[in-house]
Amino acid sequence: MGTIILGTGAYLPERVLTNQELEKIVDTSDEWIRTRTGISTRHIGGKGDETYQLAAKAAANALQMAGLSAVDIDLIIVATISSHMLMPSCACFVQKELGAGKAFAFDINAACSGFVYALDMADKYILADPGKKILVIGTETLSSRTNWEDRNTCVIFGDGAGAVVLGHGEGEGGIIGANLFSDGNLWALLHMHTAPSCNPELLQAASPGVHIVMEGREVFKYAVKAMEEAILKLLEQEQIPLDAIKLIIPHQANIRILNKLAERLGVSAEKIFINVQKYGNTSAASIPIALDEANRASRLEPGDIVLLCSFGGGFTWGAVLIRW
Ligand code: ACO
Repeated sequence: MGTIILGTGAYLPERVLTNQELEKIVDTSDEWIRTRTGISTRHIGGKGDETYQLAAKAAANALQMAGLSAVDIDLIIVATISSHMLMPSCACFVQKELGAGKAFAFDINAACSGFVYALDMADKYILADPGKKILVIGTETLSSRTNWEDRNTCVIFGDGAGAVVLGHGEGEGGIIGANLFSDGNLWALLHMHTAPSCNPELLQAASPGVHIVMEGREVFKYAVKAMEEAILKLLEQEQIPLDAIKLIIPHQANIRILNKLAERLGVSAEKIFINVQKYGNTSAASIPIALDEANRASRLEPGDIVLLCSFGGGFTWGAVLIRW
């Protein structure tokens, strides 16, 4: 009995950018990208693919699976770091796009961990008020925040959205538990500027470029260690052994982080769901896109225990356990 997933959905923009195309933009190679990141292609948004539009399409797919309409939704939480406006929130645009008139809506920013943060938040809403139906969405258009002259980052990211519809269930299934972490001391290792938020000199400050800046090697080290710790702590907290997990659906950061995580946990590669080769790193959207893909491929049966885990800028990280 608890918060259950009534439907999942995803949406990827049509345009696919290959590694071969990237070879023409920056000094890189298909071989380097595939061996260092596992990525072969990523989807890139075009006209009509604003962050909220991807989100609304993913949400519509999730609503259809749930057998619900937008007007049934009480709350929309959108996890994103690439909304087209700072205000209003992306969630308000999604509400408008879907016609979810009854809902209240807001965004959260926890970078690549945004979806697991939002999922935990929605779970708490439903535990407090079991009548609520909630849309939780991860959506990103990081191609609009990428420095296309920086080969260290531009090969990694992609655009897309994933969504779940949550409600209350009386059966055995549901969200079992979660744990979330952050460490603002490490912000500089992975960040993206926006306009300055203070101006102490009363001068017109030049706005630094709005794109992702990353210390890749440092991020790699922290990501593996933090996700491993979050997983092991959550399993201990919920008294569930690692071998009871049917599928781990991690943030699709890159293949080497995921392989290292599998190695440190001592689990076989098949236990870790991977689709980074097709979509690249879609930040807050990567887990719900992967969850939808696993669900639609019938990788999850009722009663299976699924573990979601993430790591992102902040740093932020965390894990969520779900009985399907
Ligand atoms: N193509 C070719 N060469 C490249 C590219 C590229 N796209 N990018 C970097 N290089 C070069 C570097 O310039 C460097 O050259 P040099 O030795 O002449 O200076 C060389 O490759 C090695 O660079 P490193 O940074 O040491 O490469 P590394 O093996 O660490 O791989 C990578 C880089 C893939 C970024 C790795 O550090 C990594 O996976 N980090 C994790 C970062 C990540 O996944 N971030 C996603 C966002 S955070 C998140 O979602 C969790």
